[in-house]
Amino acid sequence: MLPRWPLIVQVPVTEYWVLSDEQKFMRQFVDQIGRERTMTTEEVTGLAQVEHGDDERTGALVGRLFEAAIGAVDMVSVYLGDRLGLYRALAETGASTPAELASGAGIHERYAREWLEQQAVTGILEVDDPAKLEGDRRYSLSSAHAEALINLDSMYSISPLARTLVASIQALPQLMEAFRTGGGVEWSDYGSDMIESQGDFNRPWVLSLLGTQYLPSIPDVHSRLQSDPPARVADVACGVGWASIAIAQAYPKVRIDAFDPDEHSIEIARGLAEAAGVHDRIRLEVRDGASIENEGPYDLAIVIESIHDMSRPVEVLAGIRQSLGTSGTLIVADEKVAESFTAPGDMVERLMYGFSFLVCLPSGLSEQPSAATGTVMRPDTFRRYAAEAGFKQVEILDQVEHDFLRFYRLTT
Ligand SMILES: C[S@@+](CC[C@H](N)C(=O)[O-])C[C@H]1O[C@@H](n2cnc3c(N)ncnc32)[C@H](O)[C@@H]1O
Repeated sequence: MLPRWPLIVQVPVTEYWVLSDEQKFMRQFVDQIGRERTMTTEEVTGLAQVEHGDDERTGALVGRLFEAAIGAVDMVSVYLGDRLGLYRALAETGASTPAELASGAGIHERYAREWLEQQAVTGILEVDDPAKLEGDRRYSLSSAHAEALINLDSMYSISPLARTLVASIQALPQLMEAFRTGGGVEWSDYGSDMIESQGDFNRPWVLSLLGTQYLPSIPDVHSRLQSDPPARVADVACGVGWASIAIAQAYPKVRIDAFDPDEHSIEIARGLAEAAGVHDRIRLEVRDGASIENEGPYDLAIVIESIHDMSRPVEVLAGIRQSLGTSGTLIVADEKVAESFTAPGDMVERLMYGFSFLVCLPSGLSEQPSAATGTVMRPDTFRRYAAEAGFKQVEILDQVEHDFLRFYRLTT
């Protein structure tokens, strides 16, 4: 089962507005702003030519961004609840007063109270009785919300997204400089929040579906991974290594070489592989994917959510192609964006463009020259990269159902 929350992502902007729970309140809010704005414009500047229709559109934009601001605040509050261990403390202790949460989680009581009240007001936590004195109220985390906020293996897990967002935003000073100069921001400059949350974001589907459904849906690959002599797999741009762990767990014979140029990612991956008890079959190396041509021959190579981040995607694909054995296969998973640019776009496009200018494009531009792909890598762009790298065939694996990712199979 895939997460429920991505199911709303296909709703176009206009319909999303109509569906909003806060519709009535927001309507009033934007009407009020619209009235005030028109008055002010007429009185102060004398420029009263704003059409009635324009007012409605302006109001709609203001309303939408106002709602987005509340969403942004929610995400930051989730970041705090996650990183300070507040959700976990509530899940362990049960309904708590601010003082109890403060002492259980090791934070200051006044901050505990403010955060708890905000969480109840915004509907993430429940409060036993709002009429009680502020210090006496008890706040609790329902099991339904705990699933999304603290269970990192759940398909509903959402806290990594809050972490990714905060990590993206903390790099804004460097990003603004990059916007001006055309330079980039290195992946490592986004810090461990970014590296860990990237891994945690993919972890649920990687651990529960990659080795048990996705790879078994490709019969020749599945059978090779099960047979002798033991298959060799390359996990290129492995990040913190969840895909290597999943494959090692699903296929007890295979040996995996996992590469990533980011040292911190490899260090974390080593710890995770050891904790999962599969470290003896996973070799982790700090290494650029373009330099693995002599490491094979591999029966299978995988690249998950990384081709669009690379400064030199064609070189890396060419390195992988050379490392594959005669019947070797490359599986690439990358963003399931639309075939071509359309505006306005659905929520997948909006999210991907957001992460593109915040993270993936600047990270790709941190090395020059760069293909400067960005998160929104259309299938045609990927096909071109694959052809330039010497792959003869690119097939989209339609049987692999995923809300955000498209799976490609490349053969030499
Ligand atoms: C968005 S992360 C994805 C990591 C992992 N595959 C996952 O799904 O969690 C992109 C990764 O690409 C890696 N990367 C960038 N350029 C690379 C290159 N030339 N060769 C190998 N990996 C590269 C980065 O270090 C980063 O770990």
